[in-house]
Amino acid sequence: MQAAAAKLAADYQLSPTATDHDFILELTRDGLQLRWSARPDYQPLVLDYSRGRQAWRQQLGGGKQEAVVRALGVAKGIRPRILDATAGLGRDGLMLAHAGCEVWLLERHPAIHALLDQAVLHLQQYQQAQEKVQWALNAHVLPRGSLLEYSEMPADLQDLGIDAVYLDPMFPEREKSAAVKKDMQILQHLAGADLDADGLLPAALALAKHRVVVKRPAKAPFLAGQTPSTQIASKKHRFDVYVKAPYVKSNR
Ligand SMILES: C[S@@+](CC[C@H](N)C(=O)[O-])C[C@H]1O[C@@H](n2cnc3c(N)ncnc32)[C@H](O)[C@@H]1O
Repeated sequence: MQAAAAKLAADYQLSPTATDHDFILELTRDGLQLRWSARPDYQPLVLDYSRGRQAWRQQLGGGKQEAVVRALGVAKGIRPRILDATAGLGRDGLMLAHAGCEVWLLERHPAIHALLDQAVLHLQQYQQAQEKVQWALNAHVLPRGSLLEYSEMPADLQDLGIDAVYLDPMFPEREKSAAVKKDMQILQHLAGADLDADGLLPAALALAKHRVVVKRPAKAPFLAGQTPSTQIASKKHRFDVYVKAPYVKSNR
């Protein structure tokens, strides 16, 4: 296990020592987990899309009625190729993959990237072993990175033929913390508020051929102050849709 943990640390360029860190990735027999060492009252965050609540949501809730799926414009004959440029724990991105879209997941935080990459790998292996419908193969975790890191868009991103970019940057928290799910709280403390998020909109609009969708808390201002073409509301959130060009239907 120690050798495997050291290899993961090297692969994901994480610090191999577990001292003096507020957050620690631990390799267990069931995979990676993220522990907040300053808050032992919090269960470690385990990202496993093959079982429990997370799997249930993918199986039963991953339908066309999900607001994120509707906001991305998934419909009969329309399965956009999507870049999820703030992938986080991959819940929204995997929902879109489950809905039949090819999805590339981009995440800049090394520990979150490692958790996500391992979780997607595990889900793909699980689906292959179970001979289940292998929709997870539609999800591709990109090397750690950010649209904001490039002065020019790298050719390999441009070559993917991205129809839509999805953005869900962390909003500075205003709700009472009890209202925020615990795994999201851990994420907030680990990655912090994405105060540079406004810069993502022009980069996303430059890359997407058809549309950019931004998830915001219901009452939050528009990203970069830019008014969207249309909006889709869910219980606590709003999906701001910036349409560049209509999709073209295929027979998928
Ligand atoms: C609110 S979370 C996204 C949650 C995700 N939609 C989900 O369903 O799990 C925001 C994530 O975006 C990442 N992020 C923020 N800005 C980014 C950027 N410019 N490039 C890449 N990742 C970014 C943060 O590190 C964080 O993990």
